[in-house]
Amino acid sequence: MPKHIVRLLLLIATFGVVAIGAKFYFTDKSFGVYGHYRADAVAEIAAAAPIYRGAAYCQACHRERFTQWSAGIHKVVTCETCHGAAAKHPSAQLAAPPAPVDPRMHSRIAAERLDHVKLMIPADTVKLCTLCHEKMPGRPATQKQIEVSRHAAGQQCIVCHNPHSPKLAAAGVPQAAKPVDAAAGRMKAAACANCHGAEGVSPNPVWPSLAGQQRGYLVSALQAYKAGARRDPLMTEQAKGLSEADMIELAAFYASLSCQSAGSSAAAPVVSAGKAKAATCAACHGAEGASGNPAWPSLAGLQEAYLVNALKAYQTGARQNPMMAGLVKGLSDADIEQLAAYYAGLKCK
Ligand code: HEC
Ligand code: HEC
Ligand code: HEC
Ligand code: HEC
Ligand code: HEC
Ligand code: HEC
Repeated sequence: MPKHIVRLLLLIATFGVVAIGAKFYFTDKSFGVYGHYRADAVAEIAAAAPIYRGAAYCQACHRERFTQWSAGIHKVVTCETCHGAAAKHPSAQLAAPPAPVDPRMHSRIAAERLDHVKLMIPADTVKLCTLCHEKMPGRPATQKQIEVSRHAAGQQCIVCHNPHSPKLAAAGVPQAAKPVDAAAGRMKAAACANCHGAEGVSPNPVWPSLAGQQRGYLVSALQAYKAGARRDPLMTEQAKGLSEADMIELAAFYASLSCQSAGSSAAAPVVSAGKAKAATCAACHGAEGASGNPAWPSLAGLQEAYLVNALKAYQTGARQNPMMAGLVKGLSDADIEQLAAYYAGLKCK
């Protein structure tokens, strides 16, 4: 046999031996027990401590949020979906005073410790919440979806939704101890008639009509004037002397009256521009300006000038409400006029 063929065969044989040796040397002993797997991995995985603790674990220390969460619609989303794995939260060191450490090491150790025990607080909720709630073809309708650009006006979701119980339920209306006497409300309203009209329809373009307004909203508006959270040179004085019971009776009276639309003299294009812009308002103030939630005001048929003033007051901060503040931020004076013209012109129910 020629020499070079012998060398070649030797080389091939060496490779073969190395390859077979490597297969036996590197293959785990438990490989093949369950088929094409490393059987020891099963026990290793089973022995590893779980990194998720489950929501029940959080109950003892975060009772308030746990209660909101477990009573609300979001209990399908576990705490650790939003806050991250809680395997090491909270650490024992956190409760005990930290052991003395070399000052040069202090900041590094402290940082490491907190890395492990501090859970994430989601900062950008638009990013977090839209993972599950952004409108998408094919996403099951049972998981409620929104068109993000139209829905939130660029705001963080938690301005309006509590992440632990996000459903905006109709807010409770303060209830009187006894059945409310609307006739008593009418008597008390005599003091208000000069400005708000005997039947709740105001004679003045900047004083709001109250007839047919939402009951819960009327009470909260009066409370806000009395507490000083909402200020007006005329109204603040009026609300000072009212008791909680007065407010409830007055609200029941005004809510029971039928409202009369103030109307708008604005040109048709202004009104239709306002109608288009009112799409963002409909979720709270109703498609036709009649709110479905007793705690949120109806706008249909309110005076145009009053509506303009109110929107500008939210812009300047003279009137404060977290929901409205975010929504009016982007409105120009022209937008405000168009919206006011549209709502003032609507028929009220
Ligand atoms: C044994 C009590 C205890 C349990 C159980 C517990 N926490 Fe905490 N949690 C704390 C303490 C104490 C703090 C404040 C520590 C801090 O400021 O870092 C805290 C802080 C937090 C914070 C805010 C973190 C920050 O950076 O301020 C979040 C979020 C949180 N916990 C979520 C959870 C979740 C979710 C669970 C359940 C999986 C849970 N916790 C279970 C005691 C607990
Ligand atoms: C849908 C996501 C989501 C779920 C589910 C959720 N959280 Fe939160 N959590 C948030 C967001 C966003 C914040 C910050 C805004 C706030 O304080 O309301 C927060 C704030 C907190 C804070 C306050 C942190 C601080 O110091 O300000 C605690 C504590 C907390 N959550 C605990 C829990 C517990 C316990 C659960 C489960 C019972 C839970 N969360 C479920 C999103 C969520
Ligand atoms: C992991 C997915 C997930 C994340 C993240 C999430 N949600 Fe949800 N959310 C759901 C599911 C699923 C439901 C429906 C629960 C049901 O109907 O029982 C729901 C329900 C809701 C509802 C009630 C809808 C209705 O029926 O009226 C609102 C509002 C809501 N989520 C807002 C938020 C907000 C705000 C955030 C961010 C802080 C958020 N969600 C984060 C999955 C998620
Ligand atoms: C300015 C306040 C506001 C902000 C900000 C806001 N929402 Fe809403 N959201 C509402 C109102 C009002 C409703 C309507 C409640 C109703 O229809 O009964 C609603 C309803 C929803 C619903 C249920 C929709 C349905 O079809 O029933 C989901 C889901 C939701 N919001 C998610 C979000 C998410 C995600 C964000 C952040 C990107 C967000 N929201 C920001 C006010 C807001
Ligand atoms: C001197 C005139 C005057 C009298 C009298 C008066 N109000 Fe008012 N009221 C106003 C003005 C002006 C406003 C609008 C203030 C503002 O922009 O915040 C107002 C606003 C209100 C609002 C808020 C309406 C809304 O849509 O936000 C309520 C509710 C109200 N008044 C109830 C009453 C009641 C009840 C009485 C009688 C006890 C009364 N007012 C007496 C002038 C008056
Ligand atoms: C997330 C719910 C929500 C949305 C969306 C919303 N509003 Fe409001 N709005 C409220 C609440 C709540 C109040 C009562 C706040 C207060 O007590 O001052 C209010 C009050 C008002 C008032 C004052 C009413 C009065 O009687 O004094 C006007 C005007 C108004 N909104 C206009 C708008 C317009 C215009 C839009 C759309 C660009 C809009 N709102 C969108 C919740 C909302």
